[in-house]
Amino acid sequence: MASVSLPPFSRALVTGGAGFIGGHLVRALLDAGVEVVVLDNFRTGRASNLEDLPVRLVRGCITDRAAVRDAVAGCGAVFHLAALVSVPESMERIHECVSLNVTGLLVVLEEAAAAGARKLVLSSSAAIYGDDPEVPKREDMRPAPKSPYAITKLDGEYYCALFAATGRIETACLRYFNVFGPRQDPRSAYAAAVPIFIRRALEGRPITIFGDGGQTRDFVFVKDVVAANIFAASTAGLTGVFNVGYGGSVTIREIAERILTQTGGASVIEHADTRPGDVRHSRASADKLRAAGWAPAYTLESGLAETLAWYRAHADPV
Ligand SMILES: NC(=O)c1ccc[n+]([C@@H]2O[C@H](COP(=O)([O-])OP(=O)(O)OC[C@H]3O[C@@H](n4cnc5c(N)ncnc54)[C@H](O)[C@@H]3O)[C@@H](O)[C@H]2O)c1
Repeated sequence: MASVSLPPFSRALVTGGAGFIGGHLVRALLDAGVEVVVLDNFRTGRASNLEDLPVRLVRGCITDRAAVRDAVAGCGAVFHLAALVSVPESMERIHECVSLNVTGLLVVLEEAAAAGARKLVLSSSAAIYGDDPEVPKREDMRPAPKSPYAITKLDGEYYCALFAATGRIETACLRYFNVFGPRQDPRSAYAAAVPIFIRRALEGRPITIFGDGGQTRDFVFVKDVVAANIFAASTAGLTGVFNVGYGGSVTIREIAERILTQTGGASVIEHADTRPGDVRHSRASADKLRAAGWAPAYTLESGLAETLAWYRAHADPV
């Protein structure tokens, strides 16, 4: 795996640092000796994700220019994770989605550039590929966003490209596929499949699958997503759009069955209506980021094992 130690910046801003991925990223940066500033308004984040970590926490919104300016001062790198993160919620709250995912990003880009930050890494999404039946998804495929969430992530990528092309700040956009790992919240109305399945399996309650369960996903362990972020921020000249996934896929039914097997759970699997905006098949081509020198340290199996161990040890994880 490419080294993520000794990043070429001593202070970094993590927007959305109190979230699931953000909390893991903050830990990894601290472990690498980086001073961390977190900007978060706790829209979906939780204080427990940051525990008592030695970070400077700025409680504020990414659309609040003064808060962003305060948070980004002296930062060499910016990891922009804060967003309206849910596809179903974005279908209901389009304007809020645009405000947070586009206007908020623009404020962060402008303030990061003005503060002299060298690099901004945007958390983008595989949702951009939409329902194009072609797999694996390559970065040069024509985007087909199907939700306000995906449209705003694509907009964000274009703004990042614009800021890089005009020399204001170097940017890299990482299109995460389906991220899973410890501390992912199974309780929100829009929670992801893996933590819900694990929690239900551990409690012996029914597991609900939206649709027939034949939809496929490329699940990627959160620590690999974090390492990809630090790699992108640390690699001068690495700019543009990169998939972050393993290049494999499993059906939702398979992942539910694997979790049931590994937990020894007796839950039954139930089916509910397909959710609006959900895509059918999703699998990354992971070649571009690998060619740039990055490789994952985990697999679906090892990541799932670490995740299950964590949930077992934290019966009430949120
Ligand atoms: N989890 C995944 O599978 C996945 C997949 C693709 C992309 N992403 C992207 O990765 C990023 C992190 O996702 P996550 O899964 O950790 O979600 P999360 O909800 O746990 O984290 C998002 C964080 O952003 C904060 N936030 C939201 N709006 C804000 C605002 N206006 N101002 C300041 N802070 C705000 C939240 O409070 C939260 O702490 C997001 O940009 C998301 O779109 C996640």
